[in-house]
Amino acid sequence: RICHLIGAPVDSGQRRPGCLMGPAAYRVAGLARMLGDLGHEVEDRGDVALPVLREVSCENPAVHSLAETVGWTEALSAAGRAALAEGGFPIFLGGDHSLSLGSVAGVAAHAQGAGRPLFLLWLDAHTDFHTPLTTQSGNLHGTPVAYIAGRDGFAGFPDFPAPLPPGNICLYGIRSVDPEEHAALQAGQIDIRDMRVLDEYGIVAPLRAFLEEVHAAEGMLHVSLDVDFLDPSIAPAVGTTVPGGTTFREAHLVMELLHESGLVTSLDLVELNPFLDERGRTARLMVDLVASLMGRKVFDRPTRSYG
Ligand code: ARG
Ligand code: MN
Ligand code: MN
Ligand code: MN
Repeated sequence: RICHLIGAPVDSGQRRPGCLMGPAAYRVAGLARMLGDLGHEVEDRGDVALPVLREVSCENPAVHSLAETVGWTEALSAAGRAALAEGGFPIFLGGDHSLSLGSVAGVAAHAQGAGRPLFLLWLDAHTDFHTPLTTQSGNLHGTPVAYIAGRDGFAGFPDFPAPLPPGNICLYGIRSVDPEEHAALQAGQIDIRDMRVLDEYGIVAPLRAFLEEVHAAEGMLHVSLDVDFLDPSIAPAVGTTVPGGTTFREAHLVMELLHESGLVTSLDLVELNPFLDERGRTARLMVDLVASLMGRKVFDRPTRSYG
């Protein structure tokens, strides 16, 4: 599979400008070169452009940049769907997390056409389970999981193609949930591997359990990696820092397990705000994590059991 780099300079899902520089930062940090060094073919498709906007409105006055977000959703959905139809492996270079409204919609449309179930691994401090009607912040980067799960409240957006059953969604690394999200998640069956779970069971077992479900169902797997999944001490370039994130080694281990599973079919890199970075260290760390996900390892050998 050829890696398709899809630049998504989306800044409209939150209020701290800078995520629009994310795609450029990943390019400067050498994402394409790294993938090439690992033996992958790479096509940089450049940045997706925002289409002419339609007028859309929302009953919740807190919501901002709705028309722009709908525009990005449509454009990125088309880009993701096209990449998969060509047999590519799409990597969306964000951009804030509202880009996943579009990226996952495109992937879901493709999966539906291919007759394969789609699974979602959401690596994030946040559940992003608001709808435009429940968000208090009005920041639509807090809504994609609700859209993907088929919740109501997305008037003005295209209908999500084949919403994912809750059992196909795994939220991993969670440590910040708003009351409205909490209530809605409490009522559903989405797999929530929050930090309480990861502290008790470690980083490996809860992820393996989910990957086994994907494998058993012969599913496609979309991974959405939010910079705030990582601890702010190693990844400062993000607007929504939450203490207690994954460490350098935990995050690499997650990526290595994903690589070994062979299940990942598309990827988002979101919420990098290069304006908040320290000499590019967060952008570089994200590129190194993608390297682990795409096959970089210290020794090339099957892992044995040390148990
Ligand atoms: N739950 C908060 C909100 O709705 C934070 C969302 C953060 N989301 C993100 N993609 N970083 O505003
Ligand atoms: Mn997020
Ligand atoms: Mn987050
Ligand atoms: Mn499940």
